[in-house]
Amino acid sequence: MKTIGVLTSGGDSPGMNAAVRAVVRSASARGIKCMGIYRGYKGLIEGNIKELTATSVCDIIQKGGTVLYSSRCPEFKTEEGMKIAIDNCKKFGIEGIVVLGGDGSFRGATDLSARGIPCVGVPCTIDNDIASTEYTIGFDTALNTACELIDKLRDTIGSHDRCSVIEVMGRNCGDIALEIGIATGATATIVPEEPFDFNTDVLQRISSAKKAGKNHFIIVVAEGVGGVYEMAKEIESKMNIVSRATIIGHIQRGGSPSVKDRVTASLLGNRAVELLAKGISNRVVGMNNNEVIDTDIFEAFKMQKAFRTDLYELSKVLNL
Ligand code: ADP
Ligand code: F6P
Repeated sequence: MKTIGVLTSGGDSPGMNAAVRAVVRSASARGIKCMGIYRGYKGLIEGNIKELTATSVCDIIQKGGTVLYSSRCPEFKTEEGMKIAIDNCKKFGIEGIVVLGGDGSFRGATDLSARGIPCVGVPCTIDNDIASTEYTIGFDTALNTACELIDKLRDTIGSHDRCSVIEVMGRNCGDIALEIGIATGATATIVPEEPFDFNTDVLQRISSAKKAGKNHFIIVVAEGVGGVYEMAKEIESKMNIVSRATIIGHIQRGGSPSVKDRVTASLLGNRAVELLAKGISNRVVGMNNNEVIDTDIFEAFKMQKAFRTDLYELSKVLNL
């Protein structure tokens, strides 16, 4: 393979730039040219493609967001859009593509592979919702951001004997909420993977914590459950505790990537190029027990994401 492309697609995540750098440098070390495709699949359709060199990716490992920009591109799902994308690959000499993104982006990658452009996916999303890997690039940074923000909220609720009901991101996956619940000592953690009863799992837990001497309360709610404003109102009216709702939102997606995200991005970006260089495609790279793995992309789609029941149960034991 003489030339590969790299693109970032779907929601950006901290560490995407470190992964772009790893792809470009790994390719360069193997004598493979690397083309940067801007704004995900949109750039492939529009021909927004420029060469990236080992030196052009200097000074990006520490940057949040994506220097290649990202987009959601419905046109790519159409036969017409796909045809233009393939024509552009030919025009720019792109023989394989490393796709940095989530599940949706990987589905696009299989469409390209099926039409003769081998692709390998690198899981980049703060949600940690890709079943074939224990870890997705950006998750750790998002956790640290959310934790820092909730620590700040704790200062103010602690000063006023209040309750803070906080929504964290994650789409349909409760992993961010789960880890944040543990890390911030939330009185209750609510995730989409586990059914919950508001009386037992929230009101009664607040009541027990109050009896134990606690005077401020953090309730962490995953985005996939939602309803934080209603919950705060209910808590205030039923428990007589002033309650405020906060949706942290997109702040969780920004910021300089943590060491874990930079290192994981470097490892996974490198493996993706290694695979393409060997002529292997339709794989999703990932981590399992701290080792780099790669999985057949169609197998990956069929996998069921494992839920950390141990963390969920632990938060109930440790957190008042
Ligand atoms: P993520 O990769 O974060 O899951 P999206 O689901 O928004 O993000 O997908 C990103 C892009 O991938 C979409 O805008 C579209 O261009 C492409 N894509 C998503 N699903 C498909 C699909 N089923 N077939 C082809 N392309 C897809
Ligand atoms: O997938 C990352 C994520 O930030 C999710 O946590 C969230 O549900 C979604 O993207 C938000 O999407 P948008 O950027 O389109 O608002």
